[in-house]
Amino acid sequence: MSIRPILRYPHPLLKKICRPVERIDSEILTLIADLIDTMREGPGSVGVAASQVGVTLRLCVVDVSQSKLGKECNHGLLVLINPEVLSSEGAATMREGCMSVPDYTGDVERPTKILLRYTDEKDTLRHVTAEGFEAVAIQHEMDHLDGLLFLDRISSLKSGLFRRKSYR
Ligand code: NI
Repeated sequence: MSIRPILRYPHPLLKKICRPVERIDSEILTLIADLIDTMREGPGSVGVAASQVGVTLRLCVVDVSQSKLGKECNHGLLVLINPEVLSSEGAATMREGCMSVPDYTGDVERPTKILLRYTDEKDTLRHVTAEGFEAVAIQHEMDHLDGLLFLDRISSLKSGLFRRKSYR
């Protein structure tokens, strides 16, 4: 296991639409372990997608259980392989950050509750309903799988983007 370097905006691989994972082999399991290490190393980080370390596959990890906003309501560590949102409801605006855009945060509106289908690291198909901050974190990471950053989602570059003083 190791921490992998995070690609930063505007690296072209961050704009790629990622390919589905076809088989969970030892290479994928190593990538998953590295993504978890890389997420835990990032200060305040609650998720990372494979494309952020240069692997354009539909795979990301999320864990909001250690964060102030997510600790009340979460599923712990989620390894999301080929995730899909089956349904969503609600809408709320939250401030988002991203290890690939370290100098800024932004206000993004997203659904507040999602029903998610994904394959886990043991190759089991799972369904999970996520709410609140966890739902936001999952949707943020899933955007990376489609080559989208929060910068592509903010309503206004004038009022929705904020310069970060220091990365918490
Ligand atoms: Ni991100």
